[in-house]
Amino acid sequence: MYLYASLVLALSALGLGATTPNRRSISSGPNTGASRFSRDDVSIAEAPLSHQLVLGRERRPAGVGRRLPAHIARQLGGSEVINTIYSGVYPTANVTWGDTPKAGGGGDGGQKFTCFVDTGSADTWVVSRQFQCVNVKTGKPQNQSQCGFGPGLDTGLASFVNLTDQEFSVGYFPENVEVQGSFGLAPITVGGVTVPRQQVALVESAAWNGDGITSGLMGLAYPAITSSSNRTTGFGVQYDPWFTTAVKQGLVQEAVFTLALDRVPPGTPVSADAGMAAFGGLVPESYYKSPFTSVPIEPETVGGSEVFAFYSVMTKLVYRTGNGSMASAGEFRAIVDSGTAPNFVPISAAEDLNAQFRPPAVYNVSLGFWTVPCDATAPYAAFVLGDVEMAMDPRDMIVRSLNGLPGYENVCFSAFNGTEAYGGTFSGIIGEVWQRSYVVAYDQGRSMMHFAQRMPY
Ligand SMILES: *[C@@H]1O[C@H](CO)[C@@H](O)[C@H](O)[C@H]1NC(C)=O
Ligand SMILES: *[C@@H]1O[C@H](CO)[C@@H](O)[C@H](O)[C@H]1NC(C)=O
Ligand SMILES: *[C@@H]1O[C@H](CO)[C@@H](O)[C@H](O)[C@H]1NC(C)=O
Ligand SMILES: *[C@@H]1O[C@H](CO)[C@@H](O)[C@H](O)[C@H]1NC(C)=O
Ligand SMILES: *[C@@H]1O[C@H](CO)[C@@H](O)[C@H](O)[C@H]1NC(C)=O
Ligand SMILES: *[C@@H]1O[C@H](CO)[C@@H](O)[C@H](O)[C@H]1NC(C)=O
Ligand SMILES: *[C@@H]1O[C@H](CO)[C@@H](O)[C@H](O)[C@H]1NC(C)=O
Repeated sequence: MYLYASLVLALSALGLGATTPNRRSISSGPNTGASRFSRDDVSIAEAPLSHQLVLGRERRPAGVGRRLPAHIARQLGGSEVINTIYSGVYPTANVTWGDTPKAGGGGDGGQKFTCFVDTGSADTWVVSRQFQCVNVKTGKPQNQSQCGFGPGLDTGLASFVNLTDQEFSVGYFPENVEVQGSFGLAPITVGGVTVPRQQVALVESAAWNGDGITSGLMGLAYPAITSSSNRTTGFGVQYDPWFTTAVKQGLVQEAVFTLALDRVPPGTPVSADAGMAAFGGLVPESYYKSPFTSVPIEPETVGGSEVFAFYSVMTKLVYRTGNGSMASAGEFRAIVDSGTAPNFVPISAAEDLNAQFRPPAVYNVSLGFWTVPCDATAPYAAFVLGDVEMAMDPRDMIVRSLNGLPGYENVCFSAFNGTEAYGGTFSGIIGEVWQRSYVVAYDQGRSMMHFAQRMPY
């Protein structure tokens, strides 16, 4: 999930005084061989067991194509119909709101929610029990159950303190869903890490297509793309997301978290594990083949300042054409996003790569994605990161629609879709389909991303 409203909010927040992060220059050093990293100046330990957690996974059901709100469409330089029929399987984790029970009594007991783990956005939120559901297509109020959330937060929860002058509002790409609500402070526990007073949002109005299990989302990106605005002035109010607070308060040993997202074939029981997350370090060594390849996180340039926002990296897409030669789409910027299933690449590259399937993938205008027969043969394709060619697993090149919408069970999609440049900047997405073959360490401390091949599973 890539929050499109953030572009707007980040700009207004930055207008109030942005700081330029120090860019580290990354030069490669000799490999000592002993390290888990190609660079000998990078060393990250496994996260303590208490800060590792097994991920679940949920399907994102289908949405219906809808135009972006006009003010956002203007920011993005056009309006387009987008559609979420290409629903992937996204990682989830249990997030506890409120005080967890104390040994000697006390604490409000907390409430536990299944939430998406999203590195493409920064806000952590759950839906309120009293929320208003609105139709994704028409914006008309409808029955709560039609939004498909899991259980909502009981606002009577003693430890939720309303930050009454801040408003939450965000929309997500490519799902094209939107939520609005209030901000507050609450103790938030994930993977054994409790931030005692974390700014989080409570959703009071939602245009959403849920799965009946997930109640919210946990955003793991940078403060610059948090989605708070002042109710009085309308200006953006930047705040520290959960992981940033955990780092600042020394609750994790390093400013690094790591995700290993499993490939979950259709038909896998909902109760099955779907990967691993670790806060403050790496997942266990059994998940990956050393070494990790490191690349810098690219800051966004806003009003002449550089600011970290997304987990953006420079990459190249390479693929094999029908005559056996390799083609490259050149270098472009892309965000690594655990909450978006497909890869989004420049349109010309998507068109050429999709023509290399046998039979070729075809663009389906009403679905908004490239479809391909489920038994087609996929071409070789890889993202190049830090000079290392990191291939897609052939099993992930053709993605069966997982949304369970009757009539769509046997619709298959190409792993690659096109996307345009918005506001003059092109940013692709390295999606969850690619991440199934890699362990990804998100290193805010060094402003680097680290990638290692998954052990076969
Ligand atoms: C969340 O907690 C419940 C028990 O309350 C457990 O059954 C479920 O597997 C957990 N989900 C994840 C993703 O850890
Ligand atoms: C909402 O929908 C559910 C399921 O369709 C139904 O049981 C319930 O009565 C509806 N509630 C209202 C207020 O319409
Ligand atoms: C928080 O405060 C705002 C502004 O007063 C109000 O509109 C909102 O309903 C409150 N939310 C909760 C959950 O108390
Ligand atoms: C919101 O704006 C009002 C009026 O300018 C100001 O008093 C208040 O401190 C602002 N709140 C935040 C959180 O920025
Ligand atoms: C192979 O096919 C690509 C187009 O798919 C073309 O650009 C390239 O020139 C061809 N190479 C050879 C050696 O025929
Ligand atoms: C697009 O996909 C829908 C759903 O599978 C299908 O009904 C329709 O025929 C497709 N359109 C084209 C042009 O293939
Ligand atoms: C998928 O790619 C096509 C071009 O290849 C583009 O027109 C369409 O908007 C893309 N779909 C989404 C959801 O962005």
